[in-house]
Amino acid sequence: MFLSGYWLQVVLSWAVVAFATATVVVAVQKAKLEKDLQDVQNKIDIYEEWNGESTHRMKREDTVKYRLPTALVPTHYNLYWHPDLETGSFTGQLRITINVVEATNQIVLHSYLLDITNVYVLNREVDKFELEEERQFLIITLTEELPKDARITLGILFGGQMKDKLVGLYSSTYLNEAGDTRTISTTKFEPTYARQAFPCFDEPALKATFEITVVHPSGSYHAVSNMQQTESNYLGDFTEAIFETSVSMSTYLVCIIVSDFSSYSTTVRANGIGEDFSMQAYATSHQIEKVEFALEFGAAVTEYYIQYYKVPYPLTKLDMAAIPDFASGAMEHWGLVTYRETALLYDTSYSSTANKQSIAGTLAHEIAHQWFGNLVTMKWWNDLWLNEGFARFMQYKGVDAVHPDWGMIEQFQIVALQPVLVYDAKLSSHPIVQKVESPDEITALFDTISYEKGGSVIRMLEALVGSDKFEEAVTNYLVKHQFNNTVTDDFLTEVEAVVTDVEIKKLMLTWTEQMGYPVLNVSKEADGSFQVTQQRFLSNPASYDEAPSDSEYGYRWSVPITYITDDGTEGSLIYDYDVETVPIFVASTVQWIKLNVNQTGYYRVNYEESLWTLLIQQLISNPDSFEIADRAHLLNDAFALADASQLSYRIPLEMTAYLGQERDFVPWYVAATKLRSLHRSLMFSEGYVTYLNYARSLIAGVYEEVGWTVDADNHLKNRLRVSILTTACALGVPDCLEQAAQRFNAFLLNPTSRPSPDLREIVYYYGMQQSTSQSTWEQLFQLFVAETDASEKLKLMYGLTGVLNSQTLFNFLVLAGDENIVRSQDYFTCVQYIAANPVGESVVWEFFREQWLQLIARFGLNNRNLGRLISQITANFASSVKLEEVQQFFVKYPESGAGANSRLEAVETIKYNIEWLARNHADITDWLSGTASALTKKTQL
Ligand SMILES: *[C@@H]1O[C@H](CO)[C@@H](O)[C@H](O)[C@H]1NC(C)=O
Ligand SMILES: *[C@@H]1O[C@H](CO)[C@@H](O)[C@H](O)[C@H]1NC(C)=O
Ligand SMILES: *[C@@H]1O[C@H](CO)[C@@H](O)[C@H](O)[C@H]1NC(C)=O
Ligand SMILES: [Zn+2]
Repeated sequence: MFLSGYWLQVVLSWAVVAFATATVVVAVQKAKLEKDLQDVQNKIDIYEEWNGESTHRMKREDTVKYRLPTALVPTHYNLYWHPDLETGSFTGQLRITINVVEATNQIVLHSYLLDITNVYVLNREVDKFELEEERQFLIITLTEELPKDARITLGILFGGQMKDKLVGLYSSTYLNEAGDTRTISTTKFEPTYARQAFPCFDEPALKATFEITVVHPSGSYHAVSNMQQTESNYLGDFTEAIFETSVSMSTYLVCIIVSDFSSYSTTVRANGIGEDFSMQAYATSHQIEKVEFALEFGAAVTEYYIQYYKVPYPLTKLDMAAIPDFASGAMEHWGLVTYRETALLYDTSYSSTANKQSIAGTLAHEIAHQWFGNLVTMKWWNDLWLNEGFARFMQYKGVDAVHPDWGMIEQFQIVALQPVLVYDAKLSSHPIVQKVESPDEITALFDTISYEKGGSVIRMLEALVGSDKFEEAVTNYLVKHQFNNTVTDDFLTEVEAVVTDVEIKKLMLTWTEQMGYPVLNVSKEADGSFQVTQQRFLSNPASYDEAPSDSEYGYRWSVPITYITDDGTEGSLIYDYDVETVPIFVASTVQWIKLNVNQTGYYRVNYEESLWTLLIQQLISNPDSFEIADRAHLLNDAFALADASQLSYRIPLEMTAYLGQERDFVPWYVAATKLRSLHRSLMFSEGYVTYLNYARSLIAGVYEEVGWTVDADNHLKNRLRVSILTTACALGVPDCLEQAAQRFNAFLLNPTSRPSPDLREIVYYYGMQQSTSQSTWEQLFQLFVAETDASEKLKLMYGLTGVLNSQTLFNFLVLAGDENIVRSQDYFTCVQYIAANPVGESVVWEFFREQWLQLIARFGLNNRNLGRLISQITANFASSVKLEEVQQFFVKYPESGAGANSRLEAVETIKYNIEWLARNHADITDWLSGTASALTKKTQL
C-alpha cells in the first residue's frame, strides 16, 4: 500500500520542487543475487581462459575510491518509512538538510538496492541522478553549482524489498502461540547497510539528527525507534508513529522495528548522574516473560556504567528487543538494542548456565557501546577496534560488577585472550588498525582481531596504568569527544594525560600498528638475575622464514612486564621494543619467576627448561601458590610453545600432573580444550590409544567429583561440570557415554521431560552419537522442527549433528538449506557443527564446493559468515591432498568477497596441521608410552 495522499500533501507543501527531468537514469536494479552470480561466472570464465598458476591471494582493486567526497555535510534527516508487511516491500521519503562546505554541482551519497523514484532539491534544479553500483553511490547532478556555505534540502522518494534479507530494512517471521505466522520488520545497518534502507551519507563521521516517522498496521502492531514516540496519527488501516528528534548520531545506529511484540519495563537509576530513565524489553508475546532476566541485568549493568563513565546516559530511554532473525548476535543501536532471541531471552526451563552468562555478556557489551561507540564514534572503520575492543573489554567488567561470583575477570582469558593468541600467531593475521575502504573489507574487519585482540590490548593498558587512572581517562575521553568522532590517538592522548611515568602512545603503537605479538624468553644468569629477550611468536616454525619484515617496529613490542617470584616479590618494568634485552634483578635466594601476572599482557613467556621444571614442581606441590589466572596461563603458554616447537612437549605434559588437584573452572577449561584438540589431532595416528588412556586418566578425578547433578546456584561449578562432561564424552569415557545414552533414551520416551538445560547439549549430542537407528534421528529432528524456544532449538540442532552416519549428515545439510527448517541466521552454525563431527567433515567439504554458487546466491559474497566458513570447515585438515583441494577451489572461484583473509588463514592452518603432526607426534607418543603409562595404570577409568 502506497500512502499517496500523504506524499502529495508533503510534496505540494514545499513551494518550489524541482523534479529531476532531464536524464532520469533510474537504474532498474537487477536483483543483487543475480549480479553476484554473474560476477562469479565471469571470473570463472576469465580464469579458465587464463589457465595461469594457482594463487589464492587476490589483490584488491585499489583504483576504486569508495569514500564519499567531502564537499557536503548532512546535519539532519527527516525520514518517513512505510514497511508493508503484507507485500514485503517498503516505500519511504526523506529530506536531508545539508551544509555545503566546498562548492560543487554534485550531491553524492549512498544508496544500494533501492528504487529511487524521485529526487529533488529545494529551490534548485536537478539535472540528473544515477546509481553507481560498485561504490553504492547515488550521484545527483545539479544544473548549477552550489556555493560554499549554502544550506540545501535534498528530497528523495524511494522504495525497496524486505524479504529474504538480514540487513538493511528487512522482514522476519515467527509463529505465535496459536500457530499463525506473524511478520515483523526491523533493521540492521552496521556497517554499510543503512544505504539499503534509505539514501544517506553512510559514513560514521557524518553524524546528523534524525526525525523519524514510521507507518505500521493499526491494531496490535506498533513501531519503536531510537527515540521516544511523541505522536501517533491514526489513518485507518495504518497508523503513523512519530518519534522525537534524535541526538546527533551515525547512520549505522539508526533503528526501527514494526512488530506486535509485547514489552516489560523497568527504571534505570541514574543515581545523581543525569536523570532516571525507562528501559523496555520487547519480545514476541508468548515469550515475553523470558525477558525478565535481561531486563533486570540490563538495568543493573547500565547503572554500573553510568557510575563508571560518569557521563549521563544521553537519551530518555534505552530499549531492547529480541528479533526472531538477526544476522549478528546483537546490535547497539542507540536507545534500541536488538538481539537474537538466544542473546536476550532467558528461561530457567530451557537456558543453561552458559546461556545465562552469554546473555549477560552480550547485554553488557551492547550497553557499554551506548557511550563508547555511540556517543563517541570512530571516524572511520579503520579504527573499529576502538569501539569493539573497548566493548569487549568492558563487558567483562560489567558482568563482573553485577555477578562477582561468576569469575568473569579470569574468564576473559579463556574466551577472549587465549583464542586470539592462536589466530594472531599466524602470518594471515592483520594489525589492529587496518586500512579498509570497500564494504567487503569493512565487514571483514568485524573479526577476532578487532574484538578480542582489541579487548586484550585495552586490558593490558588498564593493568599498566591502573584501573582508577584508566577509568579517569575514559571519562575525560567521553566528555571531550561526545557527539563526535575520534581516532585511536585521541583515546591514547587521554590515557597518556593521566600518567606521568610511561609514554603510552609510543608503547601502544607497537601493539596497534603491527600484527602479532612476542614471546619473551627468560633465562637465569650466573649472578642470579633473569635475562629477558623477545621475538615474534609464530605458531609454525616454518613461518619464521616466510615472515615479511615490513613493520616499522621490526615486529618487536614495548612489553609491560609483570612478575612474581617464589619469595612473594611482585614487580613490573617496561621492555621497550628498541632495546635488545632487559634484566630482572631479584634476591639471590629466588628460585623461580613467573612473568605476565594473571596473563594481563598480550604475550607469551618461555623459560629455560630448568625454570619450567621449577614452576611445575611448585604447581604440583602447592597449586594455590598461583592465582587461578596464572595457572590457566601456565597451561596455555606451555602447550602453545610446545605446539610451536619452542619447548619440548614433555613440559606441558608433565605440567598436567597437577590437574589431579585442580578444581577451578578456568584452568580446567584450558586443559580440557587442549585434551579435546589433541584427541582430534591424534585421532588417526599410532599413539591414539595411549593418548586416550592418558587423557581419560587425567580427568577421572574431576569427572567423579562434578557428577551429573546440576547445582542450583553455583555458576562456576556448573560451568566446570559441563566442560568436564563434554570432554569426558568426547574422549569416549565409557561411564560418560552411558550416562548420556540413558538420559537420551529416557528423553525420547518422554520428550516433555527433558534433562537439565546444562546437560542437554551433552545428552543430545552423545546420545545421538551412540544411536545407530535412523528413526531416532528422525524423532529428534521432528522435535527440533517443532521447537519454538530459540535456545532449545539450537541445542537440538547440535544434537542432530552428533550422528555418526555420513548419509544422515548429508541429508541434514540439505534440509538445513530450507529457511523454514533452519533460519538463515543459524545456517552457518549448523554447517560448522556438522563439519566439527569427524564423520561430517568431508561431507561438508564436498557439499560446500559443489554448492558454492548457490551459497553465494543465497547469502552474497559480502556475507562475512559465509566468508569465514572456509577456514572453519577446513580447520582440522592435515594432509597435502586436502591442501591441494582447497587451493584448487580458490583457483576455480577466485572471488572471495568478505572471505579473503579467511582463505589465507585456511591454507596456513592446513600447512600448520601437516607440519604439527610431523614434528610433535613422536614427541608426544614417546612421552606418553614412557612416563605417563605408570600414571595411567593407577587411575584408569
Ligand atoms: C568534533 O571535533 C572536531 C575536531 O576536534 C571539531 O572541529 C568539531 O567542532 C567537533 N564537532 C562537534 C559537533 O563537537
Ligand atoms: C591477580 O588476580 C588476583 C585475583 O583476581 C588479584 O587478587 C591480584 O591482585 C591480581 N594481581 C595483579 C598483579 O593484578
Ligand atoms: C627463545 O627460545 C626459543 C626456544 O629455545 C628459541 O627458539 C628462540 O630463538 C629464542 N628467542 C630469543 C629471542 O632468544
Ligand atoms: Zn560491539
